[in-house]
Amino acid sequence: MNISVIGTGYAGLSTGVGLAVKGHHVICMDIDENRVDKIKAGVSPIYEPGLEEAIKAAIREERLEATTSLEEAMKKSDVGFICVPTPSKRDGSIDLKFIEHVSRDMGRVLEGLEGYRVVAVKSTVVPDTTERVVIPNLEEFSGRKAGQDFGVGMVPEFLREGSALQDVLEPDRIVIGELDKRSGDALEELHSVFDAPVIRTSIRAAELVKYASNAFLATKVSFANEIGNMAKRLGVDVYEVMKGVGLDKRVSPHFLRAGIGFGGSCFPKDVMALVRKGITLGYEPRLLEEAVRLNQGQPLRIVDLLRKRAGSLKGRNIAVLGLAFKPETDDVRESPAIKVVSELLRYGARVRAYDPRAAENFRKVSPRAGYFRSAQEALKGADACLVLTEWPEFRELTDQDFSGMRERIIIEGRKALNPNRVSGFEGVCW
Ligand code: UDX
Repeated sequence: MNISVIGTGYAGLSTGVGLAVKGHHVICMDIDENRVDKIKAGVSPIYEPGLEEAIKAAIREERLEATTSLEEAMKKSDVGFICVPTPSKRDGSIDLKFIEHVSRDMGRVLEGLEGYRVVAVKSTVVPDTTERVVIPNLEEFSGRKAGQDFGVGMVPEFLREGSALQDVLEPDRIVIGELDKRSGDALEELHSVFDAPVIRTSIRAAELVKYASNAFLATKVSFANEIGNMAKRLGVDVYEVMKGVGLDKRVSPHFLRAGIGFGGSCFPKDVMALVRKGITLGYEPRLLEEAVRLNQGQPLRIVDLLRKRAGSLKGRNIAVLGLAFKPETDDVRESPAIKVVSELLRYGARVRAYDPRAAENFRKVSPRAGYFRSAQEALKGADACLVLTEWPEFRELTDQDFSGMRERIIIEGRKALNPNRVSGFEGVCW
């Protein structure tokens, strides 16, 4: 099928490239010329394992194009995915300005197009957004009727950064929220290239599946952190505990890794947006509020632990290994490292940071920290070391790599170091 993807961020680009890998013809549209030029040249504007190679191959096989023209993208496609960002407002509720714009613009283009087309929302939007904002805009600006002249659906994306393309190619499930049967049939046909169960449902239910999934996983992490905070006081390694818990099939072993809390562009924002939505519905989601609160305090625990061990941080050199919110990405959005580093600087410490991929992005958030090209350089002369992201290369570090430290205090905020190679370190919850 011919597909357009409007917005080429992590979700849009990975989805578009994934659909091209599976044999569809995809045209990616973005207002950012620089991004479009990069995609056309076979260069990925974001770092994701395997993405650039897949872009190059899809362009070579003439299954992937890029444009800044919405009209061209829609003209060349049967289904158009809305993949624009849905950032947070100050109060944590969702900001729909990009969704507003793009749905109006798509309406305008639809007016002049022949034939049946489906508009599918993939951006994460709180339940009722597609019906309350997208459909009215499309109808008003096209002068046509949704569910009759054109189709509408909501197909949430569950990809994780760091394994985005693989997640698109091998989904656990496909959820299709449909306005009417014809829209749903078209979207099901498009997704038949994937080997995954398909759930067809209402648009609102699909929107809520996405939020409920993220809220559940985020709560699971906060739960592991809560047990972890107690385990630390008991002198117990929470990972041993969660191994015992996770083997229960009803629980599953995933998302029970305790540490300095969840970050990224989705969990913090989505759980808050769902809390806000609940409140506007006249319901206070207290479990979710607590999951967020716990998470906000979690990064500070590693600094407290450090201060207990090292005393005053004023003028001390603190090496920080890992800045990305998780490994295999250059993304630092809502990374717990942001809170940790700003807290260290607030106490007057000198931060010596290293991250294999995310240093450039982190520098924009925290220009006062020092950035180094390797873990060993960051560790040189350090009075203490905090490991904040479980990059695979940190697993390879040995005692020798830490030998340049002035004092040997090593605390990890994620299970990152190999105890067979490095001695005398402790964890935030272990
Ligand atoms: C998440 C969802 O997993 C994905 O389905 C959705 O589409 C987008 O949001 P992502 O933010 O890319 O994906 O990363 P994820 O692997 O879920 O991790 C989120 C955060 O939770 C990271 O900071 C990670 O370090 C943390 N985490 C995850 C834990 O602290 N413990 C865990 O056990 C798992």
